[in-house]
Amino acid sequence: MLSYRHGFHAGSFVDVHKHVALVLLLLHLQRKETPFCFLDTHAGAGLYNLRSRFAQKNREFESGIARLRECKAPPSAVAAYLDVVAAVNAPGESHYYPGSPLIARRLLRPQDRLVLVELHSTEAPVLKAGFRGDAQVAVHHRDGFEALPALVPPRERRGLVLIDPSYEQEGEFERVVETLKVAWRRWPTGVYAVWYPVQRRQPLGRFRQMLRTSGAHSILMNELRVAPDTIPNRLAGSGLVVVNPPWEFAQELREAVIWLEPLLSQERHAPVRLEWLAAEK
Ligand SMILES: C[S@@+](CC[C@H](N)C(=O)[O-])C[C@H]1O[C@@H](n2cnc3c(N)ncnc32)[C@H](O)[C@@H]1O
Repeated sequence: MLSYRHGFHAGSFVDVHKHVALVLLLLHLQRKETPFCFLDTHAGAGLYNLRSRFAQKNREFESGIARLRECKAPPSAVAAYLDVVAAVNAPGESHYYPGSPLIARRLLRPQDRLVLVELHSTEAPVLKAGFRGDAQVAVHHRDGFEALPALVPPRERRGLVLIDPSYEQEGEFERVVETLKVAWRRWPTGVYAVWYPVQRRQPLGRFRQMLRTSGAHSILMNELRVAPDTIPNRLAGSGLVVVNPPWEFAQELREAVIWLEPLLSQERHAPVRLEWLAAEK
């Protein structure tokens, strides 16, 4: 039984971090004319209304996207992300927030393809309805961990997988690494981005170790912390692992995250972490 609803968290500091990285990865894929495929194993509902009762409950967007509204001279990755967010809103408004499927759709060219997987019985039909009639998008109502090995390699042989689970089930860190290992063996040249929560009592040391020994040759890790991880059940930061990051992505992400950190931080905390878990290129 899944209880997580992304509508409660849309536009939070986690979404800002994850989606800036996503935009940057998609812009890299656009640099070549040949088609790419974006696979989203935990896609969510697609578009979020920030005035809904979900978003208004904890108003997480206030410590996320709302802090970027008046920002001056953002790095190019953040500027591109803000353009995508602006595109789902009327000029000057901040009514909606795009999830990863809509962000990716915005950056798809006519030759590219989007494959979305979502298991939640309420979210999946909403996602399907949002893309009905769109020949470039396929939506699967199924388990993203099970689906991924069957979906790779995509016919384009070029592209990005986003693994963005809700971590509400026991053993999800292990499931992420196991799924990644199987997918990577089937498609070793794909780019994989995995999101994870930075929070007290999460098995992060073990997670990083499992990744180091996963077999993948190039793994970049980035953590943006906004608060100390001393308080149980409080999300202290947002973590991202990117397997096979494109050339220069690490420097561009570092620049973006160092710029974001003072805007998004809530309390004194550890600095931004960006390091290679497996050999740098
Ligand atoms: C963090 S949200 C995804 C947010 C989305 N990727 C974005 O960035 O906008 C996680 C989603 O995974 C879904 N989910 C949970 N377990 C799943 C599974 N095993 N397979 C597919 N989706 C799952 C949840 O219903 C939720 O919508």
